[in-house]
Amino acid sequence: MAASSAAGSYDFAALGTDSGELDRLQLQASRSARLELALLERFGLRDGQTVLDLACGPGVISRLIAETHPACPVTAMDLSPELLDAARAEAAGAGLERIRFVQGDVYAPPLEPGQFDFIYARLLFQHLEDPLRALQAVRPLLRPGGRLCIMDIDDDWLTLVPEPQGFQAFTEAAARAQAQRGGNRRIGRQLGRLLEAAGYSDVALHVETVSSRQLGMRAFLDITLGFKRLLLSGAELEAAAGTLAAAEALVDDPQAWALVGVFLASGS
Ligand SMILES: C[S@@+](CC[C@H](N)C(=O)[O-])C[C@H]1O[C@@H](n2cnc3c(N)ncnc32)[C@H](O)[C@@H]1O
Repeated sequence: MAASSAAGSYDFAALGTDSGELDRLQLQASRSARLELALLERFGLRDGQTVLDLACGPGVISRLIAETHPACPVTAMDLSPELLDAARAEAAGAGLERIRFVQGDVYAPPLEPGQFDFIYARLLFQHLEDPLRALQAVRPLLRPGGRLCIMDIDDDWLTLVPEPQGFQAFTEAAARAQAQRGGNRRIGRQLGRLLEAAGYSDVALHVETVSSRQLGMRAFLDITLGFKRLLLSGAELEAAAGTLAAAEALVDDPQAWALVGVFLASGS
């Protein structure tokens, strides 16, 4: 996977079409969609607001918001033309032509300032080389009183019980690989500080636990380990093989649990 300064540690084109990444993204967003919608509403999403799905990827969340909030004009922006094509096709298939798709970079969004009541950035900030600059670039897009809500992860809040041997080494290798590409798998804890530093007010930070009991162990593992696995290659991937096999075995263990802390940060 090649690094590029705008895409940071997430360059969809470089992952390759046979990586299964599009399916993983769709699964990741769809599985938790209903849980997430309730959280977004808690964070201020209301029908009638002008909404931006920032770094929309395949557009699962853009479609969810458009379906459940028929009076919301929804804009969906992403850097990747390939993901936008997939998102457009899905939206057309679902009869949601009113979603406006825009190709753009979070560091220089090609959008009119002052137009959004609610901006949602899901799993973007862990990939950015300069999250502070991105937050500064997004702030002018908000209307007075509008809110940016960020959902992202922090790997120290990921736990498998029982823990497969070598699991810590595996997550650390993935974190190193993502950091080499400009990302940060421990971005969650930084989000409150970054929002304040970028000039947002009324900043809040919450951690929500999502478990294998809610998603199912199969989906939980695909969602939380899939991208980490893609980050590794060669000797590191070989070293992780036993750990990944032990993690897979949890699917058949009815007593196993898996938990992840999902960070939700917001500011006006
Ligand atoms: C892990 S995906 C998340 C996609 C979507 N938000 C979701 O949750 O399904 C990260 C997304 O960030 C996009 N991205 C990365 N760097 C970006 C940038 N500088 N500007 C806009 N989008 C970017 C990628 O193209 C990708 O769609």
